[in-house]
Amino acid sequence: MKKILIIGSNGQLGTELLTSLRDKYGSKNVISSDINDPSNKDAYFEKIDAREALSLTSIVEKYKINHIYHLAAILSANGELNPILSWELNMKTLLNVLELGRKGIIERIFWPSSIAVFGRDAPKDYTGQNAVTNPSTVYGISKLAGEKWCQYYFEKFGVDVRSIRYPGLISHKAQPGGGTTDYAIDIFFKAISGKSYDCFLHEDTSLPMMYIDDAVKGALMLMEAPSQKLSIRTSYNLNATSFSPAELTAEIKKHIDGLRVQYKPDYRQLIAETWPRSIDDESARSDWGWKEAFGLPQITSEMISALRMKK
Ligand SMILES: NC(=O)c1ccc[n+]([C@@H]2O[C@H](COP(=O)([O-])OP(=O)(O)OC[C@H]3O[C@@H](n4cnc5c(N)ncnc54)[C@H](O)[C@@H]3O)[C@@H](O)[C@H]2O)c1
Repeated sequence: MKKILIIGSNGQLGTELLTSLRDKYGSKNVISSDINDPSNKDAYFEKIDAREALSLTSIVEKYKINHIYHLAAILSANGELNPILSWELNMKTLLNVLELGRKGIIERIFWPSSIAVFGRDAPKDYTGQNAVTNPSTVYGISKLAGEKWCQYYFEKFGVDVRSIRYPGLISHKAQPGGGTTDYAIDIFFKAISGKSYDCFLHEDTSLPMMYIDDAVKGALMLMEAPSQKLSIRTSYNLNATSFSPAELTAEIKKHIDGLRVQYKPDYRQLIAETWPRSIDDESARSDWGWKEAFGLPQITSEMISALRMKK
């Protein structure tokens, strides 16, 4: 039987992954954990700092955990504000989880990487699985190093760790965690409340994006795929759609006519300029059958109807 631990369950991805995993496996089989308390009461929540190997191990042993979804990280934009903390947290927590795999305590691990691994030297369009990786942010450096650690633990110790290079994730339940694509969430909140929006990227900066339902589906599909089907043990490219702030604004205006957007690029523009515009994810499609469900029109209508219901 699967006993699952999510590390970083209060975050943007964790909030939604928790719901899906509990629907699938039952609440008592999916333990949530985070360094902060959750906003809602949760009988199966454990407060842990995943940098502390001993407390992580004691939770894993207490619940007889065999699968971990390790989501705790400092994201791209926040990472640039505190590079050392970002490196320490992103690496230490991953190594603690990989060590649980090496010791045979954990059977399978999911750990997300990011398109931030590529950096400015990679081709911008349909960036391939094996395109050059030369990241310029501490976040990208930590994700690239993390991917190499995952491959190392798989090849050297047989640890079954699986990973996806996510694009920018769009959702409405939890606040975004300080990434370069957060504008594509913030703009919906402003549009719904009738306020104008100051966008921190140029209007024509196109980036790969994915709706949260697709992100959760991708994680579950990869974790359920037979091991022999997986040809990549660093991290899989995963594509859904790509759009610029101007294209997103135009799509939102089909629903909310009065939205006004000013473009005031800041330091995040420089990060975005080093990232791909679109992703080639052929390996994920052929190895484990990946196919996205949400393009820009579907993401926009889902976000607007969900936020209207919340009002
Ligand atoms: N959101 C995106 O657009 C995106 C894109 C690519 C990759 N990713 C990756 O997906 C994962 C989840 O991202 P997210 O957007 O949910 O991030 P988030 O910042 O929203 O959530 C991270 C969670 O981890 C928790 N956390 C931080 N330090 C911790 C620690 N020491 N111990 C335990 N918990 C800790 C935080 O409190 C937070 O709830 C990350 O690895 C991120 O790099 C996210």
